[in-house]
Amino acid sequence: MLKIYNTYIHIPFCERKCNYCDFTSLKGTDNQIEKYVNYLLKEIDIYSKNYDLSEKQDTIYFGGGTPSLLPIDSLKRILSKFSYDENTEITIEVNPKTVDINKLKEYRNLGINRLSIGIQTFNDENLKVLGRIHNSEEAIEVYNIAREVDFKNISLDIMFSLPNQTLEMLKVDLEKLILLNPEHISIYSLIWEEGTKFFRDLKAGKLKETDNDLEATMYEYIIDYLKSKGYEHYEISNFSKKDFEARHNSIYWENKNYLGLGLSAAGYLGNLRYKNFFHLKDYYDKLDKNILPVDEREELTEDDIEQYRYLVGFRLLNNPLIPSKEYLEKCEILEKEAYLIKKENGYILSSKGLMLFNDFIANFIDD
Ligand SMILES: C[S@@+](CC[C@H](N)C(=O)[O-])C[C@H]1O[C@@H](n2cnc3c(N)ncnc32)[C@H](O)[C@@H]1O
Ligand code: SF4
Repeated sequence: MLKIYNTYIHIPFCERKCNYCDFTSLKGTDNQIEKYVNYLLKEIDIYSKNYDLSEKQDTIYFGGGTPSLLPIDSLKRILSKFSYDENTEITIEVNPKTVDINKLKEYRNLGINRLSIGIQTFNDENLKVLGRIHNSEEAIEVYNIAREVDFKNISLDIMFSLPNQTLEMLKVDLEKLILLNPEHISIYSLIWEEGTKFFRDLKAGKLKETDNDLEATMYEYIIDYLKSKGYEHYEISNFSKKDFEARHNSIYWENKNYLGLGLSAAGYLGNLRYKNFFHLKDYYDKLDKNILPVDEREELTEDDIEQYRYLVGFRLLNNPLIPSKEYLEKCEILEKEAYLIKKENGYILSSKGLMLFNDFIANFIDD
C-alpha cells in the first residue's frame, strides 16, 4: 500500500465571500460545518482501506476557505485519524476575525505549530474594498496573541497590485509587515478572477486594473525590500527566514505525492492526479455510496511527470533542475532567450523568467 506522508484538508466555509476570491468557499452554519466534517472523516476512512495512513505525517495543511471557522473538537477528530508529532508541520489558515486567544491556545495544544494568517493589506480602506471582514488592527492583534501563546512559525498572506494602490501605499504595507517579523511571507499579485465581484466591477468600469509597469515595479520593489530585510526569496510568491520555507507547499513545487481531502481538493498519489467534486451535493452523494468523491482523474505517464517536474520545479528559485536528455535542448533554448540561467548543478529561473513566468511556461510547453 502506498504510504501517505503529506495531507491537505480543504475547509470550504467563509463568514463572507471576499470580493476578489474564487476559491471554493461557502457560507456555512455550525450544523453544516459539522456535517461536512463527518463526511471528511468518512473520506479519510475510505482512503485508509487502500492507502497506508498510519505513517507519521511530515506535513498536514488545513486550507480554505476559512479552516479557522472549525470548532476545536472537529479539528481534533480530523487529526485523530493521523499519526503525527512535534516534527510534523501542521498549518492552519487563519482569518483574523475568526480566532481569539483561547482558540489559538487550543491549536497549540492540538499540535498545530504553524499559522498562515490572511492579512492582505494593512490599509483599512483597501481592506474594505477587498471585502475583508477584519481591519488591520484586528489582524495585528491576532498576530501578537499568536506570539503570546508561543507560535514560533507564522506566515502572513499579503496581496499587492490592488485597485488604486500606489507604490507608496505598498511601501507602507511592507514596512508594517516587517515590523511584525513573521518567519514566512506569501505575497500575491491580485488576479482578476472571473465570477468574482471584482471581475464584474472591472467589466462595469467601476474598478481599474493596475498598469503592467506599476505591477512590475511593485514586484521588483517587494523582492528587493524583503531581501534587504533578511528574507530569502525562495519561490515566486514566497519569502522566508532561513529554514522556514513552507514544507507543505514545497511538496507541490517538488512534485511529490500528497493526499488531498475535502470539497474541490486536489491530490497526487502514485502517478494519479485527481480533483474532488466542486459542489457539496456531489461530494456528499459519492461518500453516501462509499465512493471517493473524485471528479477528475489523470494517470500521468513518465513524460507527464517529467514535464510537470519543470513546470512546478522552476518556481523554486534556489533549486537548480537538471534536465533529462529530452528536455535539455528546451532548457538550452530558454537559456539563450534569457528565461533560464545555467548553474554548475542545473538550470534556474533568471530575473526575466521570474518577471515573465507565464511567458516562460508558455514557451516551455510549446513544442
Ligand atoms: C484561499 S485564501 C485562504 C486564506 C484565508 N481564507 C484568508 O483569506 O484569510 C489564500 C490566499 O490566497 C490569496 N488570494 C485569494 N484570492 C486571490 C486573488 N484573486 N488574487 C491573488 N491572491 C488571492 C490571498 O492572499 C489569501 O490569503
Ligand atoms: S480570501 Fe479567504 S476569507 Fe476571503 S473568501 Fe477567499 S477563502 Fe474566504
